[in-house]
Amino acid sequence: MESRVKRRNKRKRMSKNSSQSQSIPLHKQQQSQTSPRFPQNPPQSKRRKCDATSSSSSPPPPPPSSSVSKPLSFLDKMKAKLRGGHFRMLNEKLYTCSGYEALNFFKKDPTLFNVYHAGYREQMSHWPEQPVNIIIRWLKNHCPSWTVADFGCGDACLARNVNNKVFSIDLVSNDPSIIACDMSNTPLDSSSVDVAVFCLSLMGINYSNYLKEAHRVLKASGCLLIAEVRSRFDPNNGGADPETFCRAVQGLGFTSTSKDFSNKMFVLFFFKKKEKQSQKIKEIEWPELKPCLYKRR
Ligand SMILES: C[S@@+](CC[C@H](N)C(=O)[O-])C[C@H]1O[C@@H](n2cnc3c(N)ncnc32)[C@H](O)[C@@H]1O
Repeated sequence: MESRVKRRNKRKRMSKNSSQSQSIPLHKQQQSQTSPRFPQNPPQSKRRKCDATSSSSSPPPPPPSSSVSKPLSFLDKMKAKLRGGHFRMLNEKLYTCSGYEALNFFKKDPTLFNVYHAGYREQMSHWPEQPVNIIIRWLKNHCPSWTVADFGCGDACLARNVNNKVFSIDLVSNDPSIIACDMSNTPLDSSSVDVAVFCLSLMGINYSNYLKEAHRVLKASGCLLIAEVRSRFDPNNGGADPETFCRAVQGLGFTSTSKDFSNKMFVLFFFKKKEKQSQKIKEIEWPELKPCLYKRR
């Protein structure tokens, strides 16, 4: 009698289990059969362990954690080194060719511009203060109706952070607001802007042509702001003499209004375009600005 009751209970339990399995919709059952055995949203470190093949129905058992992370972190380091090397190569290229060459170089492969800027951002993240922020603050303390030309704008950080109308100019345009051209030859009208900015962008060997173009597009009494890497103006280390540089810029028809050497990483020069331009054509002696080559980290 007792064993008959046991058998009946067993039959009941079995039928309950099978009816539960039928209540799962078919697509869910299939999913549950084929999904890999690791969690759907594993933490990053665990997800890294899974390569493309491990999404099969039977992933290989995970090796001990210490032996897993090492090869991948080594790979990550190698990738970072390659990216760093690629950035330094592009950076050196920009400092050692003319603007025209640089424009054609990026026209052939505009994706290299993103590689350059990713590396540039990484380098700048180690600077305690970014010169573009000083220029943003300067603009905020002046007239918001001034029109600005940002020569070598990069990702147009300046335009995004001020209320002024800004013409953002660079070799490649990843954004419709950026004018892609060589900044020695921009489409801006003559005497059309109040402020011309060069923030770490006097890169080409023909940098004097960029300043001539700034002089052309600036209105009379317009301001020219230049932020450059300090070592480029350190005569004790092969840099240019700041006074020779200022004299050359003044030779274009500017007055030097101030300089700021207080920052360890960069220097700032402020000029004003003269109201009246001299008719005499003077030979200007431009100092060479040495390339700013970043160290391997
Ligand atoms: C070091 S980045 C600085 C970017 C930005 N001004 C900032 O402070 O973040 C210099 C920028 O100048 C641009 N540049 C260099 N030579 C140029 C040229 N001839 N014409 C236009 N842009 C140029 C580069 O493409 C690069 O985006």
